[in-house]
Amino acid sequence: MSDAQQAAKMVAAQRAADLIEEGMVVGLGSGSTATLFIKVLGEKVKSGLKIRAIASSAASETLARELNIPITDFDADPVIDLTVDGADEVAPGLALIKGGGGALLREKIVASASKQFFIVADKSKIVERLGKFPLPVEVIPMAAPLVSRQLQDLALIPTIRHHADGSLYITDEGNLILDCASGPELIADPELLAAEIRAMVGVVEHGLFLGMADLALIADTTGVEEHRP
Ligand code: 5RP
Repeated sequence: MSDAQQAAKMVAAQRAADLIEEGMVVGLGSGSTATLFIKVLGEKVKSGLKIRAIASSAASETLARELNIPITDFDADPVIDLTVDGADEVAPGLALIKGGGGALLREKIVASASKQFFIVADKSKIVERLGKFPLPVEVIPMAAPLVSRQLQDLALIPTIRHHADGSLYITDEGNLILDCASGPELIADPELLAAEIRAMVGVVEHGLFLGMADLALIADTTGVEEHRP
């Protein structure tokens, strides 16, 4: 990641943190931009801001605890006031691909329980049509070969995700990720593709987040643009 990209992510993260108000239940996203947001939020908590947070990944929860951000759960707080998360692609209407960090399942749970769902990203994430970034699909391990074939029937090209050291990538929920190369022409109708993937037995969740985001804070080093659906 370039220094400019890192700086842009920080600009977006800071703008989002400024929107957090006293007493809010805050959803914590995952990935490098969400991590910057959590760090800025940690500074605000240190300065006296009182909030509770629900994290969308084990990594984000660990970081929040290290920063003394109080963690709650859906038993105590079934509604989140505002979730701030990153995205891999942001298309018009705030159609998103998420899950590059592998946390798509919990991210979608947290987003769906939120009154407001805001995206923080640098400008490189803006696309005219979804599909350049491989679409992550989380699957039950036993079903991976079956789901792979069905995804291929849709002309997607699924690959089981591995870590850089070659070991299998296992999600926080113990599942596998199939990263599906597609291309914008295959995601011409994201709603249809989402429904087709969701109908496959063994699919736990997919990385198409459609009609969910209320606002995207898209930054470069000079400032932040607000994108709405
Ligand atoms: C993790 C995600 C991330 O939000 C997404 O991958 C963007 O990450 P980054 O801010 O590092 O670019 O969906 O599952």
